Amino acid sequence: MLPNVSCLIQAPGLAVVLVGQRKDSQTYVRSKKKACEEVGIVSYGVDLPETATEDEVLEVVAKFNADPNVHGILVQLPLPKHINEKRVLDAISLEKDVDGFHPNNIGELAMRGRSPMYVSCTPKGCLELLKRSGITLAGKRAAVVGRSNIVGLPAALLLQQEDATVTVIHSRTPDAQQLCAEADIVIAACGKAEMITGDWIKPGATVIDVGINAVDDPTAKRGYRLVGDVNFEEAKEKAAFITPVPGGVGPMTIAMLLRNTVDGAKRSLE
Ligand code: GUN
Repeated sequence: MLPNVSCLIQAPGLAVVLVGQRKDSQTYVRSKKKACEEVGIVSYGVDLPETATEDEVLEVVAKFNADPNVHGILVQLPLPKHINEKRVLDAISLEKDVDGFHPNNIGELAMRGRSPMYVSCTPKGCLELLKRSGITLAGKRAAVVGRSNIVGLPAALLLQQEDATVTVIHSRTPDAQQLCAEADIVIAACGKAEMITGDWIKPGATVIDVGINAVDDPTAKRGYRLVGDVNFEEAKEKAAFITPVPGGVGPMTIAMLLRNTVDGAKRSLE
């Protein structure tokens, strides 16, 4: 017989804010909400029209900041051009910044001996893939191709924290291919379809492809297919480990979002 104890269990809650009608953002948001449902996280979705003002978005963020049922807030990027992304991201409460995009969280990640409340989901997922595949990072050379705030920058910081020697390659880097070909670990996050060809990859390297690009393909069912930033067919001939697109990093990003949300919910009880 169960003891006669009444207890209140609060499910973790994630607010997901989408502004506008970009098809790719709609797809990502749908996947995130579905994943929440599968694991028992309550998602609170707000869809605003493309014409929403910055103040309207800030109002939604303020409402979720104050809502004790919400432990994480995600504003899907990119936002429409008339909205200042920086202002919106800065408005998300640090305790609910499950995307890890707040400058305090990125700043903490950059400093030795400090730990951010949240690490952004895609780079965190890349590191989890590397660790779970038994790839040693300490003492290795790593190349991060791309320097975005969302992926390239935090990925480079995380690799450095694991004692890898990190080169960040970007659009103004001379000898980019040669530098990349010296790396034991490559994280590709430059947003250019199949830019990283086989000759960018050192034999035996580990390649994590963060890119997801739609390229026209009249033979495909939808008239396009999804490819990464790495030319998979060429790179797989050189790499020891390589992630596919789709189905590689994408699901890990979502898994880390769920983990961050649960961590936020737990912290709210402390
Ligand atoms: N747009 C592309 N990737 C992401 C992400 O990880 N989080 C948010 N909020 N927007 C994105």
